[in-house]
Amino acid sequence: MKILVTGGSGFIGSHIVDALIEKGHKVKIYDIDAPKYNQKCDYIKGDILDLNRLVQETKGYDAIYHLAAEADVNRFYKSPYYSNLITSCSTLNVLEAAKINKISRVLLASTEWVYGSPKSDKDEVITEVTPTTDNPDHLYTSSKIAAEMFCKNYKQLYGVNYTIMRFGIPFGERARPATVTPIFLSRILNGEEITIHGDGSQTRQFIYVKDLAKGCAACLNENAKNEIINLEGNEVISVLNIVRNLEKILNKKGVLKFIEDRAGQFKGRKISAEKAKRLLNWQPKYSYFEALKNYVNWFIKNKTR
Ligand SMILES: NC(=O)c1ccc[n+]([C@@H]2O[C@H](COP(=O)([O-])OP(=O)(O)OC[C@H]3O[C@@H](n4cnc5c(N)ncnc54)[C@H](O)[C@@H]3O)[C@@H](O)[C@H]2O)c1
Repeated sequence: MKILVTGGSGFIGSHIVDALIEKGHKVKIYDIDAPKYNQKCDYIKGDILDLNRLVQETKGYDAIYHLAAEADVNRFYKSPYYSNLITSCSTLNVLEAAKINKISRVLLASTEWVYGSPKSDKDEVITEVTPTTDNPDHLYTSSKIAAEMFCKNYKQLYGVNYTIMRFGIPFGERARPATVTPIFLSRILNGEEITIHGDGSQTRQFIYVKDLAKGCAACLNENAKNEIINLEGNEVISVLNIVRNLEKILNKKGVLKFIEDRAGQFKGRKISAEKAKRLLNWQPKYSYFEALKNYVNWFIKNKTR
């Protein structure tokens, strides 16, 4: 298939490009930033807000993965108007290009944040039928919910097919340095203090980016047409356990400072990826520990280069 990936130069997009190329697809990256990982594919330096360009570049294509967005919630907070343009309104451009060029599918990168924060600490299992929050606690969440709704509108009104991919918390090679795993990792390596709120028992459900990319590639399957699919890791990891696993891999103790718990800090919840397993025969291949080991090796190699 001929596939265009918006945001294909970024963290997750670049791994999806790898996974699609591995499956034999012809891939074109559409991004304002140039690709950094020597992938054998075409590249178009284009702005996602430029509809004419997008229409021109998607002529004759079979699918569009839409990854371009403001993924950094702190930057979203600082400039909400522009961030919403590239996260939510950009989805309208992609859908419009798909409509004009009769492209068979738009695959949207969404997030587990659309489920909102759990109201209690109960052992709730979230699936794709769990309603999205009606009280989003971040602009980013609202923007992604709107993007999801636009996909449904374009199906209903113009017959454009979609797949909404809701990602868990990705980690792994090429991750932004300002996220929890690289921060903890570099602090342990540098002998710097790690601050932990409460006793560190609050949990996160990580997904290794290489597993996530394979799941995204599997979403091209006909079974995922006009479906919402959670792509999540199987293991629920406590914040303290991130540190303990890193210490084990590095064979070095971290310097921990425990401080008062954050008000309203949620203890975690479980998001099910059973639908992806059932419809797409996809599930994460790597254990959290194996994936973390791969990432640490990559991090150290790339840090000293
Ligand atoms: N990283 C996460 O924690 C996470 C979690 C869930 C969902 N997502 C979603 O996955 C997608 C990819 O996230 P990421 O972490 O790889 O982000 P990233 O910032 O690494 O990649 C985003 C890419 O979009 C490109 N881009 C930004 N503005 C553009 C524009 N105007 N025109 C064209 N390209 C533009 C950037 O150059 C970048 O290459 C996003 O939609 C994000 O919201 C990310």
